[in-house]
Amino acid sequence: MRNKIKADLIIKGGQVVAGAGQAPPIRGGDMQKLAVSEQSWIVCTAEKIAAVGEKEEIREKIKITGRTRIIDAQGMVITPGLIDAHTHLVFGGTREDEFYLRAQGADYMEIMAAGGGIASSVRATRQATLEDLVASGRQRLRWMLEMGVTTVECKSGYGLDLATELKQLEAVKILQKEQPVELVPTFMGAHAWPAEYKGNQEGYLDFLINTVMPEVKERNLAEYVDVFCETGVFSVEQSRRILTAAQKMGFGARIHAEEMSTLGGAELAAELETASADHLLMISKRGIERLKESSVMPILLPATAFTLRRDYAPARKMLDAGLPLALATDFNPGSCPAANLALTMSIACLYMGLTPEETFNAVTLNAAYSLGRGARLGSLEVGKQADLVIFEVDQYQKIPYFIGVNLAKFVIKKGSVVVG
Ligand code: NIG
Ligand code: FE
Repeated sequence: MRNKIKADLIIKGGQVVAGAGQAPPIRGGDMQKLAVSEQSWIVCTAEKIAAVGEKEEIREKIKITGRTRIIDAQGMVITPGLIDAHTHLVFGGTREDEFYLRAQGADYMEIMAAGGGIASSVRATRQATLEDLVASGRQRLRWMLEMGVTTVECKSGYGLDLATELKQLEAVKILQKEQPVELVPTFMGAHAWPAEYKGNQEGYLDFLINTVMPEVKERNLAEYVDVFCETGVFSVEQSRRILTAAQKMGFGARIHAEEMSTLGGAELAAELETASADHLLMISKRGIERLKESSVMPILLPATAFTLRRDYAPARKMLDAGLPLALATDFNPGSCPAANLALTMSIACLYMGLTPEETFNAVTLNAAYSLGRGARLGSLEVGKQADLVIFEVDQYQKIPYFIGVNLAKFVIKKGSVVVG
């Protein structure tokens, strides 16, 4: 038989969780669907998935050479590489002092108003060298990769001045070149008001829109722009100005919306057709309705609600309304020092009532879609990039079920084994 597929890597499964069997966004009741098969083989060739299916069928189609690597994954689960679509990965310093305060009941926004919180990470990030930021970022990406995360969105926003915002994004660019996790850079100068612009919000908005964003664009350092739309931080009107300017410059838009209060950030996301609206703990009925009429991906970050001891986003209501959902960690030094996406899935099941099936779609296809990568990442289908994880359990449900345990045994990025 001619034209056999030359196999670079063969994974002999195992239970294969291929995806939802449909293109993202996966909405409402469809999030319950997962294409799961037993004893399947996956063949990777030149960074892509070349075949998935029953072993007899695959055996006939492929050519095994002396360079073919074979992984025996019988009794294990194979999933697409997990995608963390919301993190603040690059920052200087840490805030374990606030961890004590919050454990005693202090409120996150009160700590922020008293000059701690984000402002404290801004001071440490300004002091850090580029090398410091690359080194700590490298370690955190290693944690994530070892847990099966192969794509990570990374926001700036701990500089709030030109040099430090660029330094954070430069660190992301360097990390992108030197390690396997695919990074999606987001500029988030609108994360807090810097002390230098106290009493001059107009001045800071002007600086972001007319100085920093054009520079970030010119140097091609970010794909998206994000805003912390929140009481006492950026108002809906200020967020609209920043995101509209961003879209005009050719950036995609994302928004931290309805995290601590119901401001209308969800409605703004729908109005601007942002790529995502994130947090949504306090989303209103109207916000849900407006998102439903849009193409915005709602991204829920339950490990933040867990850390801040707040009420969770109304995930069930959102799904019942027919919305799609993605899940992400929100990994950052304050409101969520949890970098474990599988833990986020466990919390989503236990505290937001999602099923394991829904959580898998939320951290694969829908997360990929929110990052503009739905056609290339997020499922194990022929032609897609060969990003996958082999977990040492025999049923995918056990991944969120064994809370906080790292079950990833092998991680494959673009067809290469990078862990295991
Ligand atoms: O998504 N809400 C704003 N930003 C982060 C927190 C950042 C921090 O506390 O350093 C968040 O929760
Ligand atoms: Fe965040």
